[in-house]
Amino acid sequence: MRDYRYPKGADLEARVEGFFKWQNLRRQHGLWPFSRSTQESPSTVCAALDDAGGKINGVNFASQDYLSMSVSPVIKKVAQEVIEEFGVHSAGSAALLGNTHHSRLLEKKIAEFLGMPEAILFPTGWAAGYGVIKGLVRSTDHIVMDALAHTCLQEGASAATRNIYLFRHNQVAECRKWLEKIRAKDTENGIMVVTESLFSMDSDTPDIKALQELCDEFGATLMVDVAHDLGNLGHDGRGHIGMQDMLGKVDLVMGSFSKTFGSNGGFVACRNREIYEYLRFFSPPCTFSNALSPMQAATVLKAFEIIETTEGAELRNKLMTNILSLRKQLVEAGFEVYGDPSAIVCVKAGSEALARLVSRRLPEAGLIANLVEFPAVPKGQARFRMQVMANHTPQNIRDAVSRLKQAYDIGVAEFEALNEHTESEPLRKTA
Ligand SMILES: Cc1ncc(COP(=O)(O)O)c(C=O)c1O
Repeated sequence: MRDYRYPKGADLEARVEGFFKWQNLRRQHGLWPFSRSTQESPSTVCAALDDAGGKINGVNFASQDYLSMSVSPVIKKVAQEVIEEFGVHSAGSAALLGNTHHSRLLEKKIAEFLGMPEAILFPTGWAAGYGVIKGLVRSTDHIVMDALAHTCLQEGASAATRNIYLFRHNQVAECRKWLEKIRAKDTENGIMVVTESLFSMDSDTPDIKALQELCDEFGATLMVDVAHDLGNLGHDGRGHIGMQDMLGKVDLVMGSFSKTFGSNGGFVACRNREIYEYLRFFSPPCTFSNALSPMQAATVLKAFEIIETTEGAELRNKLMTNILSLRKQLVEAGFEVYGDPSAIVCVKAGSEALARLVSRRLPEAGLIANLVEFPAVPKGQARFRMQVMANHTPQNIRDAVSRLKQAYDIGVAEFEALNEHTESEPLRKTA
């Protein structure tokens, strides 16, 4: 993919052809596992089509509906009632008439949930990540960012300033070095430190407390993206911010509704009304994009309410039981999994060629799981990202592991036949 990111040539349209040729070659060989479409609710078992029209049917570990909120009867009922009463559309952006009764309540709910004074909504999580950076950081300011931060954060940073310094993944000491260097020369401009509470390809977590302390020491502002753990991790669903006793203590918290809250949309929680109002009028995806529909805001609000009840705690327990069971069975089958237990279980594949061959065999084995390869992860570190849901059954998990193993064994045989003289990197440690 990276080869086609900066195509050369004066004709903007003609120069994209190379990508299509390469993509189509992969498609023709069944090696393009992207752009699939579900044929029914993307629940624990699901029918889908690949983008060449091939049918897939299997246990689904490619939905990011961690608490299975999207199929909750209560949430569906709220959606129906709100559509009936308010229709399906918001009037405009949140800067104009786009706020609704539901969006106002949702903002309050998120602020209260995070122990922060204010929260502002965005049309998507991506827009929130991009928008909080572009909204606050100017060209003379600095951004110090974890090298693996999500694309919305990287794009926001690139749009805001050229003064971007990456620190190695989760390396607080390296972050400190950058802050020291910047402050030694510049005490006039702002610094934003950007990270995630749970990294979506590695399932690991920074020391949020240490980063906030660093920011306080150097007069910087910490921004943490909590897209993947808010609502679903920790006894009360406050994710790593809660587990690290940082609730209400992080400068800026940004999140998404597309993982745990069964919808679309995002938010930024902040320390005061001044920041809230500034973002509303100076963060382009908030100011110039239509606000969440009443139905989206109302269902996300209901999801937050459920998350705070015993039902929410039970869903989190079910999810964690599933996560631990999947990780254990994968390891027993000889696979290696990344990071710490979370709803993201990434299985090591290594070589892209091998991973693509294994991925090609997943549909016929009856497993829907996403292949992740360079540049989303470093070269030679391809992996299968399995996303766990509360509603997965023990049988779904057993099926997933045995089907991955089945696909892997075929993929390895194919890989070895293609590369008679190349040693395949072992994906599974045992035979
Ligand atoms: C860490 C992170 N931040 C932000 C986003 C964007 O969220 P959304 O899907 O709501 O646009 C994602 C989604 O992929 C993500 O993984």
